[in-house]
Amino acid sequence: MNMPRSPISSTSDNLRQLNLKDHYQLIRDLGRGTYGKVVLAKCLETGTHVALKVLPKSTTKLREFQREFQYSYFLSPHSNIVDSYNVAFETRSSYVFAQEYAPIGDLFDAIPPQVGMKEKDVKSVVKQIASALEFMHSKQLVHRDIKPENILIFEDDFNKVKLMDFGMTRKDGTVIRKTNGSIPYTPPEICEAVRNENITVAANGDVWAFGVLLFCMLTGNFPWENADIGDVYFSEFITWQRRKTSKVPSQWKRFTSKFLRYFRKSLDIKPDRRCEVKEINKYLQDNWLLPSRISGDSTSDDDEEESVSNSDQGDKLALILQNHGIDTKVDKRLRDVRISEWLLSL
Ligand SMILES: Nc1ncnc2c1ncn2[C@@H]1O[C@H](COP(=O)(O)OP(=O)(O)O)[C@@H](O)[C@H]1O
Ligand SMILES: [Mg+2]
Repeated sequence: MNMPRSPISSTSDNLRQLNLKDHYQLIRDLGRGTYGKVVLAKCLETGTHVALKVLPKSTTKLREFQREFQYSYFLSPHSNIVDSYNVAFETRSSYVFAQEYAPIGDLFDAIPPQVGMKEKDVKSVVKQIASALEFMHSKQLVHRDIKPENILIFEDDFNKVKLMDFGMTRKDGTVIRKTNGSIPYTPPEICEAVRNENITVAANGDVWAFGVLLFCMLTGNFPWENADIGDVYFSEFITWQRRKTSKVPSQWKRFTSKFLRYFRKSLDIKPDRRCEVKEINKYLQDNWLLPSRISGDSTSDDDEEESVSNSDQGDKLALILQNHGIDTKVDKRLRDVRISEWLLSL
């Protein structure tokens, strides 16, 4: 972190009250998430461009703000974790802290819907995010919100990506109440908990979300809407995962048998049986996707099942997501609104 020291620096223990526009030129909104918004701004004192995370006091307790800021700042030294500056303050309506600005944006926009990213690029992202997660887990911290929207891209070729958004980060072993609805990355043990039920934070929850993230990056689809046995795509996967059938579910047939082994280990329904994040490093030299096949050619290196064309699977999943209010082709602002609405409706 080599940002020049700003006269408005303050730590979260000692929040200064200030008027945002007296100190920053606000350039544009970078994103809106579940909890607040992030704005690109130029610091008038130093001339530096920063991303300001602005959390409204109406929905954020000071303690929650301090926790997110401190985790972000504490984890910043890792090269694959976004740099947070030692700048935190409050305005009349919000709590604010400053982070380095990622000019290319987040990973969600880099995943072509229903197609997925190039395997080479996925491997580059995965290696870096696995390193960030291993670092967090070695400090007994669990991210709890692994998804493409929380990964920032700094170089076009994916050679520099960083994990961010520590709003849900907690210490391993903390008992918390379930408050949020489920999204496709939510592990089954959290999906099945009812609202207000106690849940114990564990690193294996990140391993699950990381596995789902890999599927999304490689295919441009979610593997399921919800890791709940009532979800037909999830239930099909789990039947195969638990070796109740050798039939690979259709949307998983595009992967090599070697890589299916990774999914079997990371997406284990039993949290204690899941592998660790670093397991993925053993697979980086392998092929993950089978060579794309022309419809009708059913040659497969896993001879577990006949092939189904990728576009069929994509269409089916897109339809399900659309029925659930998630349009896989919508632009990002719409996406954020839609996902929030969808969560509220659960
Ligand atoms: N430092 C940054 N540089 C560029 N874009 C950012 C930055 N921080 C956040 N964003 C954008 O804003 C979105 C919301 O930020 P995030 O911190 O994840 O908020 P929330 O906790 O509400 O999800 C991100 O998904 C990303 O698109
Ligand atoms: Mg976020």
